[in-house]
Amino acid sequence: MAILVRSALSAVVALAVTALMPATAAPAAPPPARTVLAPVALGDVVPAPVSVTPSAATFTLTSSTVIFADPSLAGSAQAGGYLAGALRPATGFSLPVFPPPYGLATAAGIFLLHGSQTGEAYQLDVAAQTVVITAGTSAGLFAGIQTLRQLLPAAIDSPTRQALTWTIPGGRITDAPRFAYRGAMLDVARHFFTVAQVERYIDQIARYKVNYLHLHLADDQGWRIEITSWPRLATYGGSTAVGGDSGGYYTQAQYGEIVRYAQARSVTVVPEIDLPGHTNAALASYPELNCDGVAPPLYTGIGVGFSSLCVSKPITYQFVEDVIRELAAITPGPYLHIGGDEAHSTPESDYLQFLHAVLPLVGKYGKTADGWHDYLKAAPAAGAVGEYWGFGGPDASVAAAAQAGSRIVMAPANRAYLDMKYDANCPLGLSWAGYTEVRDAYEWDPATYVGGVPASAVSGVEAPLWSETIRTSADIEYMAFPRLPAIAELGWSAPSVLGWPSFQRRLALQGPRWRAQGVNFYPSPQVPWPA
Ligand code: ACM
Repeated sequence: MAILVRSALSAVVALAVTALMPATAAPAAPPPARTVLAPVALGDVVPAPVSVTPSAATFTLTSSTVIFADPSLAGSAQAGGYLAGALRPATGFSLPVFPPPYGLATAAGIFLLHGSQTGEAYQLDVAAQTVVITAGTSAGLFAGIQTLRQLLPAAIDSPTRQALTWTIPGGRITDAPRFAYRGAMLDVARHFFTVAQVERYIDQIARYKVNYLHLHLADDQGWRIEITSWPRLATYGGSTAVGGDSGGYYTQAQYGEIVRYAQARSVTVVPEIDLPGHTNAALASYPELNCDGVAPPLYTGIGVGFSSLCVSKPITYQFVEDVIRELAAITPGPYLHIGGDEAHSTPESDYLQFLHAVLPLVGKYGKTADGWHDYLKAAPAAGAVGEYWGFGGPDASVAAAAQAGSRIVMAPANRAYLDMKYDANCPLGLSWAGYTEVRDAYEWDPATYVGGVPASAVSGVEAPLWSETIRTSADIEYMAFPRLPAIAELGWSAPSVLGWPSFQRRLALQGPRWRAQGVNFYPSPQVPWPA
């Protein structure tokens, strides 16, 4: 049935294109009040697509454009709705979403079709009367949609109606990701960010085909997720933040809202509870979790490595199991991140004992373990994910884990940490891993960055944003843009299409888009931003 529908649709599109082509040599003249901008060139997109073949055609979005979503592909109507929602504010067009027509009368428009591609691969064909995105999954449609958005004039990102001619350059893009995992991490523990702030960031990262949002939900300074069996974690442990700023936490219902918002943009949430260190907020909330039975005060500084769960107490494992069970139940994604970094107050033997007890709990509740690369020394089961946050070079422990079947996500602190200052004048951020300008964030290879880790063990990249100095969405954006797109391109684009001069030029074209969106980006002097 699906195949029949698909071939019928392809026939409709092919007929529509052929039937209409001779009559459409020149597009209709735009109404005089509208501004015509120089069209974006096909391929002027971040991340760079695998293959770009321009044509002389141009598609123009008009008030009568319709989006057709192939019902044989699960999620295509939602993808169509997302695309329409993205294009409506600036165009003012209604852009209705329908199943594709079976006659020719209205067969011009944007088609989201079910093809034979796998995973996030897609093909985008732009002709005079049709834009066709073909993919085998809704994730592939979303990837194609993000490409399409960047092929419209930058004013498409304006929240208010703009009088423009909305042209899209013609040709074919064939595209697929290099790595399956392309993440962004947001630390909501050092400072708390509301559901609306997290959703704003999800919208921003999804544009660059980032498909995982890692939420650092608990640290010394704050516990940010409701755990119903241990309610004081959130109500007390979440009550403050770095510098004594006000805290906050997500109820499980609010967390579910974030998860669904992300899913609707093809982004999977990876929740992290950092264990056994980075746990002062939990220890402050429940005295019985401390070896001496005395709760420490809440912590609002930015030190690390001073807290540890009490490895010898049975209640510690009841606590961890309750947290993992509740978190797993509200997390549809495959990964549960258990931290494991900087446990400087946990003796090595205790650390290993703790992880050997806790790792099976992650599996018991149906999740794959994820953790900072420190935890790989506890030899998690094959398939577990280790997030590398070092400085590159050889690492025997990470290499051994990779060779034993762990998957490595590359988030090197001196390249991918979005909280590192750009330079000495940067008003936000830290500098313990050095200054990181855009070019530093871009020019490294995830497949070879850690000696001894085979390229086949690298599942992708992540750009973490720690929030000791980050308090607002404007702060998030200043540190993430333009470096997040650099990491996203390393995760998505084939090595053959990477290169600083090309990236620099394509990145510059994002500047007007960020201005239209109201994104507070850092205007790096390394990038030739258009006026
Ligand atoms: C880390 O930066 N401590 C993972």
